[in-house]
Amino acid sequence: MNKKRILVIGSANMDLAMNMYKLPERGETVMDDGGVAYVPGGKGANSAVALARLGAESILSAKLGRDLHGQKLYEYYKENGINTSFIKVDRENPTGLAVVMREGDGANRIVVYPGANSHLTQDNIEEAFSCLPDAVYLGFEIPFQIALSAAKMARSRGIPVFIDAAPASRDYPLENLPEVEVFSPNQAETLEYTGIMPQGADSSLRAALALYKRVRAKYIVIKQGERGCFVYDGKHYFLLPPFRAGNVVDTTAAGDSFTAALTAEYLRNGGDIKAAARYGNAAGAIAVTRKGAASSIPTDEEVRALLNSGGY
Ligand code: RIB
Repeated sequence: MNKKRILVIGSANMDLAMNMYKLPERGETVMDDGGVAYVPGGKGANSAVALARLGAESILSAKLGRDLHGQKLYEYYKENGINTSFIKVDRENPTGLAVVMREGDGANRIVVYPGANSHLTQDNIEEAFSCLPDAVYLGFEIPFQIALSAAKMARSRGIPVFIDAAPASRDYPLENLPEVEVFSPNQAETLEYTGIMPQGADSSLRAALALYKRVRAKYIVIKQGERGCFVYDGKHYFLLPPFRAGNVVDTTAAGDSFTAALTAEYLRNGGDIKAAARYGNAAGAIAVTRKGAASSIPTDEEVRALLNSGGY
């Protein structure tokens, strides 16, 4: 079977990953107690790594700084089978940097300095469309106007668009997005977009309805971490429970893994959203059992092994 060619237009960061038993309070200093490391991250690049590991042809349109972090990331992408033809180097701005603070239970809080990611241009993305993708995958760690323009370009060419709607801002004019296939925020992002925290079926449905009114999406998919995911198509909804693949050590990039996995599987299986969401849940469940961002993302074989292991 021909691999689906998926163009990711998004961010690339080096993550400074720190570990602590609890986050510092205001004015408090906490010592790292689990090792510190610079590791490949960035929501766009993580998704591109995921798509490559999960059996798609992955093309990344992103911008790196002309620095050591940029060089290391570029090599990492090549080693991971990503098509790097549309990765640009910004001579004036550094590679994006994320400080990832991981607490003892694996939960994280992230601060991103976007650097070169903020300088991805219209010309850059127009050039990337020359790869003639089967689908376009977008996130919001690049300027919203660029993501919006990429969505419109894709739509005008009849290319399906998948959006991992992170990070969120209530100020984004989501109404301006063209029709997209999937729009997928997590719980915190849904709260930011709608003012509703999706926690059970009722609040998830209210939040999904609020999103559906603003975004012309075939499916709203709300990632709910340890609760699985909630899918709404404008008429029907379902809540898919999560998988468990082991102890949760680090949730970084679990959401990126989920949405990328859902996208890869959806394009492969002819649009079966339930099977794609189940595959996404399995990918996210494996990612949380491993430390790091891109490094935690599973392969297609690993995801299928979990799917075949007896369910939830
Ligand atoms: O989704 C996880 C990612 O968010 C991290 O890798 C970090 O770079 C931020 O972009």
